[in-house]
Amino acid sequence: MQADVLIQDDRIAAVLPDIYVEDAVIFDATGLVVAPGLIDLHVHLREPGREDKETIATGAAAAAAGGFTTVCCMPNTQPVNDNATVTRYIVERARDSAIVNVLPIGAITRESKGEQLAEIGEMYQAGIVAISDDGHPVPNAMVMRRAMQYAMSFNLPVVDHCECKHISAGGVVNEGFYSTLLGLKGISHLAEELDVQRDILLAEATGAHVHIAHLSTARALQMVREAKSRGIRVTCEVTPHHFTLTDAAVETFDTNTKMNPPLRSAADVEAIIEGIVDGTVDAIATDHAPHHADEKALEYDKAPFGIIGLETALSLSLDRLYHTGKISLLRLVELLSTGPARVFNLKRGSLEVGAIADVSIFDLNKVVRVDPTKFRSKSRNTPFAGYVLRGGPVATIVAGRVVYNCKEEE
Ligand code: DOR
Repeated sequence: MQADVLIQDDRIAAVLPDIYVEDAVIFDATGLVVAPGLIDLHVHLREPGREDKETIATGAAAAAAGGFTTVCCMPNTQPVNDNATVTRYIVERARDSAIVNVLPIGAITRESKGEQLAEIGEMYQAGIVAISDDGHPVPNAMVMRRAMQYAMSFNLPVVDHCECKHISAGGVVNEGFYSTLLGLKGISHLAEELDVQRDILLAEATGAHVHIAHLSTARALQMVREAKSRGIRVTCEVTPHHFTLTDAAVETFDTNTKMNPPLRSAADVEAIIEGIVDGTVDAIATDHAPHHADEKALEYDKAPFGIIGLETALSLSLDRLYHTGKISLLRLVELLSTGPARVFNLKRGSLEVGAIADVSIFDLNKVVRVDPTKFRSKSRNTPFAGYVLRGGPVATIVAGRVVYNCKEEE
């Protein structure tokens, strides 16, 4: 639909074919897409503790430049966000320094050690929107069961990085042809699937909502599909790197192809795209994981897992999913905005009259050359440097305020 959007203060005031308001500030979006602000359920902002990699302010600036109006930050900071004091610190730092909404995710267990439950109730009061031990999955099924039961009292989703560490121990890439060829230790798809199956069974038994983070294998996707068809409260997200790259990319030994879960086989990528197309996948999330260049410069085995994604996600989604005819524009907006809002019960992802005016404006045909030296993020660890992509962000509005305008950059 073609229309004017009127924003007054921090709210959408009207969406109509022709709006005239005297003295209004006009943003001419002719020929562009005006969508509800993009929401990323999975970012690492590194503050507190590793501000050399990213801060809440720089991560939020990267988000704005990528079209995101809301990001949810994982608790694997230093200290871990496992209590209300850390949660409040993040909320306050975000209020003072972030140009987009930053919503913290609390840890499931103390220090994410997988043993005792974290102060979930108090963190909820302080503003967390989900719980997760991302990066350090809870190995003990009984602890996970209790976490799910407890999370239900606050209607909090339990987000799991599914990885059986006994299976994946020492692995750095997907187990398969390329791990053998390159002599790198593999991570079997089983590591992910064992935990996905466990979590689905626990969600079924407890009635809790489990959200599978960065799902990466064909079988895991099929498990989620089946569980959904049985009415179990399970949702999942996939990352742009898992639907654009296969483990063949590792052949370069570029440590920017090292992340956890690892890049998977071509068959897995195909299955993930099928899940994106058929509705099994609820959200695209970046797993934005900034690392310092010195650490990424280590040899493959020793470099840390993770790549940044906030400033490439929209362009990769447009180029690889929309322009290839795999999904409609509406589905793309669902995956990047309305879908994630639903998964975390956020009152966002809407352009209805009265909604908070979080808006993402993008150009379907803009030519985007990925140049990490221009990123707002403090880190540069992307495997997409030099890519030329079709479509990208133009402007980002948070609560009625323009926080990014690409015209001002040129
Ligand atoms: O690649 C990853 N990087 N996976 C994770 O689970 C953690 C993340 C990080 O914090 O760097």
